[in-house]
Amino acid sequence: MCGIVGYIGTSKAIPIVYSGLESLEYRGYDSAGIAYISNKTVHIVKEKGKLINLKEKLDFDANTNVAIGHTRWATHGVANKINAHPHSVGKFAVVHNGIIENYISLKNDLINNGYKFKSDTDTEVIAALLDYYYKENKNILTTINKAAKLLKGSFALGIICSDDHDAIYALKNSSPLIIAKSKSGNFLASDVPAILKYTNKYMLLDDTDMAKITKDTITIYDANLNIVNKETLTFTGSKNTAEKNGYEHFMLKEINEQDKVFTNTINTYFDGTIDSLKKNFGFLKDFKKIDIVACGSAYHTGVIAKHLIEDYANIPVYTEVASEYRYQKNFYDKDTLVILVSQSGETADTLAALRKAKSDGVKTLAIVNVVGSSVARESDYCIYTKAGIEVSVATTKAYVSQLTVFSLITMYLGYINKVIKKDELENIFKDIKKMPKLIKEEINNYQAYYAIADKIYKNKQIFFIGRGLDYANSLEGSLKLKEISYINSVAYQAGELKHGTISLIEENTPVIAIATNKSLVDKTISNIKEVKARGAYVIYESFIEPVDKFYNEFIKIPEVHPILENILTIIPLQLLAYKVAKNNNCDIDKPRNLAKSVTVE
Ligand code: AGP
Repeated sequence: MCGIVGYIGTSKAIPIVYSGLESLEYRGYDSAGIAYISNKTVHIVKEKGKLINLKEKLDFDANTNVAIGHTRWATHGVANKINAHPHSVGKFAVVHNGIIENYISLKNDLINNGYKFKSDTDTEVIAALLDYYYKENKNILTTINKAAKLLKGSFALGIICSDDHDAIYALKNSSPLIIAKSKSGNFLASDVPAILKYTNKYMLLDDTDMAKITKDTITIYDANLNIVNKETLTFTGSKNTAEKNGYEHFMLKEINEQDKVFTNTINTYFDGTIDSLKKNFGFLKDFKKIDIVACGSAYHTGVIAKHLIEDYANIPVYTEVASEYRYQKNFYDKDTLVILVSQSGETADTLAALRKAKSDGVKTLAIVNVVGSSVARESDYCIYTKAGIEVSVATTKAYVSQLTVFSLITMYLGYINKVIKKDELENIFKDIKKMPKLIKEEINNYQAYYAIADKIYKNKQIFFIGRGLDYANSLEGSLKLKEISYINSVAYQAGELKHGTISLIEENTPVIAIATNKSLVDKTISNIKEVKARGAYVIYESFIEPVDKFYNEFIKIPEVHPILENILTIIPLQLLAYKVAKNNNCDIDKPRNLAKSVTVE
């Protein structure tokens, strides 16, 4: 998604803003630009493509201490220099993250008032609106406030005006925006990594908040221009969290952090006693039905959780992707809990589903990684995953942390619903203690998975199959592979393959078959033999290497209680996907067309 950085202070602004944009590259983008004020004039430099293209055009010594920068993930208008941000009209320059849903009507009104537009963007319309109102009242804050009342949709804005070279202005609605104070000056940004070099303290703007940021002061206003105070938050992760620490890619670094992430998540909510589960999850006990709503990998954790909670707690669980859920007839009631799962906590579809559930009076729980994100703040309950900053667009450690939270939730609900007895709980506890070592052993066994990747990375299609929980696991294995390697991959219910898709199996088509559900292993093996008979190259993932060689490659995973097994199932598949993508020279941390947080619908 788009990245915004603004700085005003005692240092030269361009190097600081540029460095901030580099730290937000993981959000995904296809053009970038910086606007700054020098000699009471707004200057803009912007380029299509990667930041390096912009860097070549920037004067890092420019005499300015106030600048705003932007990395754009195209929504309105193709990725080119004209549509790149910042956009300026008159005395204003604007950077924007989000979508203005009524920009066409606003643009037409402005055209009728003599405005001409160069770009296809909704953001240029915002700049023109500011110019229009500023001509009327010559007050920047009033101008922004008037424009804000006309904008419909999501927007996080950074604004500068050549009539006030001592300030940056911000406006927030639905898209994330933080404000930060440091010794060398003050910032606005889309996310924490942009400011970590200078400070780990920041404030979150709420919807309709505005801010005036000078080099010494930060003043925040509500929609009625009343000054409001905001809590100062402290980012507790390490600064090098956002660095690669010697790994070639953030994705590989984050895969390697998963044993620690599991431990951090467990230790936050569970000390080996039921009391700790009651303390952290007691609010769940009265719900009789659960809906789990999310997107992408977060949705996959919901599908896994559905199997676990239904099997081990006897509570019916409905799962749906957020972009569908929000338009469906929902059969929830006062005994229903809607769980929203999101790493970023800013995914527009998930946020929209949350708001729908809340408007229908249903209780909501957020399982979110980014502290203070919109989904976290707007839900009735919130459980933070403990993955730390996840930079790579392809989620790994946050996914594992989400699964860990669902394991704990299942344990708690299973116990209070008397499905999981004390002795089984003790067994799960024992396995929890083993997990960090087992996770690390799997990660350290990466050469085995890489060797398989080296055999299949040239294929144009790769299938994943599984039954029950293993189908859910195959969804995530398939997404990991396709989103970073661009190889077409499909996850299929193993029993369903023969009802059509098996026609796509050709000689050497890789089929990755997951079999961790003991009651379904034999059936899965039958399905494997069906594809093997048609020439498939079968990669079989399970606990025990079978004697009967119905497969070409075997991925052995340690066996633990099913409530925890899914965490061990995905790790070889993450590493397999990583190596396939690496062999294909893909941009692993920033895959084409993708964004880390999809804050548009
Ligand atoms: C996962 O690897 C993908 N990057 C994507 O599917 C992601 O899970 C999805 O966009 C949801 O993001 P969120 O968890 O931040 O809501």
